[in-house]
Amino acid sequence: MITNDAAASLAINPTEHVKSINALSYDGNALMMDGVSLADIAKTFGTPTYVYSQQAILAAYQAYDDSFAEIDHQICYAVKANSNLAVLNELAKAGSGFDIVTGGELARVLAAGGDPKKIVFSGLGKTAEDIRTALEVGIACFNVESEAELYRINAVAGKLQKQAPISLRVNPNVDAQTHPYISTGLKENKFGITHEDAPRIYQIAHDLPHLKIVGIDCHIGSQLTQVQPFMDALDKVIEMIHALAKQGIALEHIDLGGGLGVQYIDEDVASIEEFAQLLLPKLKTLGLTLYLEPGRSIVANAGVLLTRVDILKPTEHKNFAIVDAAMNDLIRPALYHSEMAVIPTQLNSPVEPKVWDMVGAICETGDFLAKNRVLALADNDILAITGAGAYGFVMSSNYNSRPRACEILVKEGHAHVIRERETVESLWQNEKLVD
Ligand code: LLP
Repeated sequence: MITNDAAASLAINPTEHVKSINALSYDGNALMMDGVSLADIAKTFGTPTYVYSQQAILAAYQAYDDSFAEIDHQICYAVKANSNLAVLNELAKAGSGFDIVTGGELARVLAAGGDPKKIVFSGLGKTAEDIRTALEVGIACFNVESEAELYRINAVAGKLQKQAPISLRVNPNVDAQTHPYISTGLKENKFGITHEDAPRIYQIAHDLPHLKIVGIDCHIGSQLTQVQPFMDALDKVIEMIHALAKQGIALEHIDLGGGLGVQYIDEDVASIEEFAQLLLPKLKTLGLTLYLEPGRSIVANAGVLLTRVDILKPTEHKNFAIVDAAMNDLIRPALYHSEMAVIPTQLNSPVEPKVWDMVGAICETGDFLAKNRVLALADNDILAITGAGAYGFVMSSNYNSRPRACEILVKEGHAHVIRERETVESLWQNEKLVD
């Protein structure tokens, strides 16, 4: 949690920090991603720029796939974490399925070559149009969040003379012990169907002619660093599976929602292997196919946001480093007060370290990227914000008419532009003057 307390400054040792990040290393003084210098990328493509490692994305996907090899499973990458077509395409080629929440994400996955049969459709507000398209392409399952949605899916499927595969997203009322904005499995949250309501709504689904019950789904929150909340949720879901069996409702799969959290600074995070080892004994007894929808843990530490120090503004009370990225590029610190590490792309700065607030140039006091960081900064230094591959670019905006950043994929030792930096002119391309 970011604090305003100047005494609570945070010094991150860059060489130690990168040891926990598979994609990053220092070669002498230069920060590298898979053999490519990040300072060189900044020089060639400018800043702010998101850079992702193809190798690290695939390694994280593979860790999930391998860790659950003992049971039937399908990893469905949560598209919301990073939806760039090139990222989706790399995952699709590796065999990943996709968890989507809008028609827009469905279109992206299809454009990126994703297999519709490996898509699960989550989200509270699926429109009739979204449902129709999803049925036409033949997705694996709709994760249904309300009784009204069941009727809507049944009606659309009826018109198409199809049977829609569905799961109910049940809300196990488990405290995910994460930030309240990203905690979803408590009964006061807007998501899912309560434990109490689930048998009745499953029965409705069972009786509707154009629905086919295939599974049960839950998702209790994001940035869960420990396995226990997943275990608690699994226990609740298993109880429901047994109750449904007594109702004569048999299932084919269980979907446990998003994946593990990640290390941003020094959080103690369970490994993907440990996560699987703890869950597998219970899952094996069920004999169902497991679906998982990890997002953050696949892409967060496969990415950095590169930013340039633009203006140094030491004041009597605080030292401000105004950088060329801002809350429109990366909103996580402003929105969730999340701490993300900032490390230099070049070590051995000749200047003295000081305590800095790293801020953007947007006209809001909430526009900060990091506070009270011990850093040796000089004009034009290029810094890397780590952990930025997830919920970074996807949550960016054009606030203050700032064109969105460029995105780069490092693959096999080369930097590829996978999204051009927006031009200023593109900002008003959909706007019209009125006479
Ligand atoms: N499945 C569902 C239904 C979800 O709602 C989410 C995330 C996921 C899967 C992926 O969860 P993950 O593996 O990434 O934890 N913008 C926030 C995170 C919001 C997450 C919302 N749901 C952040 O920057 O921390």
